[in-house]
Amino acid sequence: MEQSKRWWKESVVYQIYPRSFNDSNNDGIGDIPGIIEKLDYLKKLGVDVIWLSPVYQSPNDDNGYDISDYRDIMDEFGTMTDWETMLKEAHDRGIKIIMDLVVNHTSDEHAWFLESRKSKNNDYRDYYIWRKGKQDGSEPNNWESAFSGSVWDYDETTGEYYLHLFSKKQPDLNWENPIVRSEVYDMMRWWLDKGIDGFRMDVINFISKVPGLPDAPNPQGKKYVPGGDYFMNGPRIHEFLHEMHQRALADYDVMTVGEMPGVDVAEAVDYTKEDNQELNMVFQFEHMDLDSGPEGKWDLKPLKLKDLRDNLVKWQKGLENEGWNSLYMNNHDQPRMVSRFGDDGKYRVESAKMLATMLHMMKGTPFIYQGEEFGMTNVQFDSIEDYQDIETLNMYREKRAEGVPQEELMHKIHVKGRDNARTPVQWNDSSHAGFTGGTPWIQVNPNYQEVNAEAAVAEPQSIFHYYRKLIDLRHKHESIVYGSFDSLYNDHEEIVAYQREYQGEVLLVFLNFYDGQPKAALPEEFVQKNRDMLISNYQVEEISANEFTLRPYEARVYRITD
Ligand code: NOJ
Repeated sequence: MEQSKRWWKESVVYQIYPRSFNDSNNDGIGDIPGIIEKLDYLKKLGVDVIWLSPVYQSPNDDNGYDISDYRDIMDEFGTMTDWETMLKEAHDRGIKIIMDLVVNHTSDEHAWFLESRKSKNNDYRDYYIWRKGKQDGSEPNNWESAFSGSVWDYDETTGEYYLHLFSKKQPDLNWENPIVRSEVYDMMRWWLDKGIDGFRMDVINFISKVPGLPDAPNPQGKKYVPGGDYFMNGPRIHEFLHEMHQRALADYDVMTVGEMPGVDVAEAVDYTKEDNQELNMVFQFEHMDLDSGPEGKWDLKPLKLKDLRDNLVKWQKGLENEGWNSLYMNNHDQPRMVSRFGDDGKYRVESAKMLATMLHMMKGTPFIYQGEEFGMTNVQFDSIEDYQDIETLNMYREKRAEGVPQEELMHKIHVKGRDNARTPVQWNDSSHAGFTGGTPWIQVNPNYQEVNAEAAVAEPQSIFHYYRKLIDLRHKHESIVYGSFDSLYNDHEEIVAYQREYQGEVLLVFLNFYDGQPKAALPEEFVQKNRDMLISNYQVEEISANEFTLRPYEARVYRITD
């Protein structure tokens, strides 16, 4: 099938988590005027699109993912006028903006919920999911919240429980109610009419729950158990997304990316196939779960390169002609890429560039998370007091109560905690890394004197300039955007290698994932052909050699020209 050419396939997206990006008024919290100050920096980097994490009114139980007014800007971030200026300034620089759409749930301080909880007859009652307790008065089912504890909270006023897959301040909307759906579509059009360029949709595959909300199987007799099978990719999800497409999106030339924990390749094809008219792409999680054991993200497990390669290849091949991939290795919910998959010590620069090469040379739309472009790393605060994230704090409290030693929990948090990604962007080597003139809402990573944007911009060999080049190459080479994908070296213990091809241009990508010096070779069919080096993270002298040794974390992209 002939592939369609779309701007969002040819774009590189940059995610801004506003709270941690840049503070313009010294209250310690990043804000919209702070984003405007950095648009020239993003222009220099060369990105096409900004994904803005939520900037709406919110009591900030989950840093803006608990929205109390979808049509207003959070006071700490600025005003609607600031937001309008930001959109204009971004557009003037040729940068698009997509907004975060958080409609699986609202805040419990949203006007709809305040009404809904008042009485069983309230007009807004069915905007949310209310149930009676079981016979013995316990919660309606045994599902566990993503942020620990039950998904149900009891409300005294009406004597019923409401469902919240996340914190108790994030009640789930009832998508079975057509009025709720209309409210959401109206709100989407309101933002689209303001000129935004699309949406990133928060846990959008959670909106259709299995009717009856049954207990999840619980052979071990636990109090709460993961209930994912009952709300991920639920029975009406395709109907809802298609309806959303028809009623909110179809009239606009925008991009959509759905965040979808628990999605597999076959489902992702259904969500992203153009004929289905649902979404452009999804964020899948399989590669984010390879270093987790059966108990979930805090159950740490060493990553095997083979698992990572097999997974990436599975998604590349699975969506190659049918759907479209998003490409990401970190975001505001995940540890920093270089700490997790590379070496954030001796080979920080080399390994960050190698991982970036891997990602940006694959087929799909790449997403860069703020600070990734100059190699920001995980942080290890000594005390739990220094952590801010609700997921981390709830887990710590619950596990401490169960008697898990503090050191064990701190280690898990250092490896997997979401605050790894949420420390302020390190702009320069001045106090608080130039993020704020006040006291930052979360401490700065102490390595800011070495790792910061200003130093990276000043150094021609930096990670920053390497990203610039990767982005530029994507804009110039259709083979990177539209080329076929084939894995080379399927069983190698240290190297990931793959081939892209489009209209006669072949790219061969070699990536050394460790600090050893493995040998690699061009596939036989190319040894006689002309070649050049499209990009590499070391100086390569012997381009003509068909066999070569890769240095620690080396990345090479050969271009075969005839
Ligand atoms: C996914 C978001 O990325 C995360 O930050 C948030 O906590 C949950 N969804 C709930 O909205």
